[in-house]
Amino acid sequence: TKEKKALFIIFGGTGDLANRKLYPSLYRLYKNGYLNEHFAVIGTARREWSDEYYREVVVSKVEDLADTKEQAEEFASHFYYQSHNVKDLEHYTTLKNLADRLDDKYQLEGNRMFYLAMSPNFFGIIAENIKEQQLITSTGFNRLIIEKPFGHDYQSALELNTHIRSSFEEDQIYRIDHYLGKEMVQNISTVRFGNQLIESMWNNQYINNIQVTLSESLGVEERGGYYDTSGALRDMVQNHVLQIVALLAMEPPSIMHDNEIRQEKIKALRALRLYSKDEVRLNFVRGQYGHSTVNGETLLGYCEEQNVAEDSQTETFVAGKLFIDNVRWSGVPIYIRTGKRLAEKGTQIDIEFKNIPHQLFQTENDEPLPPNVLSIFISPTEGFSLQLNAKKIGPGVKAEPIKLTSIRSAEETANNPEAYEKLILDCLNGDATNFTHWDEVASSWEFVDRIREAWDETTMEFPNYPSGSMGPIESMYLLKKDGFQWHWSP
Ligand code: BG6
Repeated sequence: TKEKKALFIIFGGTGDLANRKLYPSLYRLYKNGYLNEHFAVIGTARREWSDEYYREVVVSKVEDLADTKEQAEEFASHFYYQSHNVKDLEHYTTLKNLADRLDDKYQLEGNRMFYLAMSPNFFGIIAENIKEQQLITSTGFNRLIIEKPFGHDYQSALELNTHIRSSFEEDQIYRIDHYLGKEMVQNISTVRFGNQLIESMWNNQYINNIQVTLSESLGVEERGGYYDTSGALRDMVQNHVLQIVALLAMEPPSIMHDNEIRQEKIKALRALRLYSKDEVRLNFVRGQYGHSTVNGETLLGYCEEQNVAEDSQTETFVAGKLFIDNVRWSGVPIYIRTGKRLAEKGTQIDIEFKNIPHQLFQTENDEPLPPNVLSIFISPTEGFSLQLNAKKIGPGVKAEPIKLTSIRSAEETANNPEAYEKLILDCLNGDATNFTHWDEVASSWEFVDRIREAWDETTMEFPNYPSGSMGPIESMYLLKKDGFQWHWSP
């Protein structure tokens, strides 16, 4: 059967992530039969809630997905609430007793998923207490799922990791990067390694440059407090952007298994060129959005947002040029950019191929033909597009670019399992492919720290891009000075 037996202990059970993502995802797993009779959930947080109240909350979060209210209530009957102070040892004993009781009641075979969906300040202490107060079983699997951020630089990440590793082995730790749960991010490997046409050209002989854009139209919303201590570099580049870069750059693994794949990603990230301060200034651009009026609506500038310092130097936009220093990628620039309050929400990868060495054709206006471009649309559009050159209809031999495009229909994407649903199921299966290994986290921070350190030495004239634009003009020059331009524009 496909049913998985497990006890989930969710730290941060009353929080936003649990409500918005975890409960609905668990519900879908339930509806699809992955969770059935043999599962239970303990939600813990500081608040004093009763099981009854907790179950009502859970029902309200999953009702939309349920066929009937009874179905939602049946699901919620597996939920238990335990108020908890993460620093109080006695609370772990209470938690352990409840966990053991539920293990018996639902015959969970000692399988435990510890989900840390709360402030990262407590990750280390919780992991430590789980171990010391013997919540770890000897009969089943024990897995720790950790949300981001994993540290705020290399040193703090290392300390956190050391703390956690005193209780859990690396192969028991599942570090979430929700981008790895996205269907089209997972598709990068399929398209690369499933097609001779692509894989044989996937190197510096044929590729001119790679462009990765993670554009957001929203501002920081109510997350100013967190975001102002983070900024786009830590919030998006250290994790999501570099994970995508690793998937694009890695060597083919010998088999599609978590160990093999992650080893290849680690090697790719280790080959990232680490910049000197001068190189950072040449190769990286930062920005912060100012207020503006878009479609008659006045949007606040970043420094006017709630919980953001009035003179904040935090960047809400980053663009940069990266190099992977190995045989495959030598000399190929990888341009990345991400930002808030940009023109449109969209994540896209563009692979620009080199021009054919001897051009026989021109466009109608006698221009040289544009390069072939493979575009991978991650979200909200999901699909691929390959730009080729073909004959223009009519007399003569003029050419024009055409696109072979495959976009997933709204119907297809609506039935996609959510990122969190897939990731939780992977974790239940013990498959760590779509979670970040410590060595990946470490290399990513080492790369990002160099940029941060260079930036912290100078003060910027912020804001430097209006809401609704595609970021500061310097992010266009970054490519222009190499003779390229961004392929994606809204
Ligand atoms: C999160 C960041 O990791 O990713 C947010 O903290 C960002 O700032 C979000 O908005 C973007 O995710 P998605 O899936 O909406 O592209």
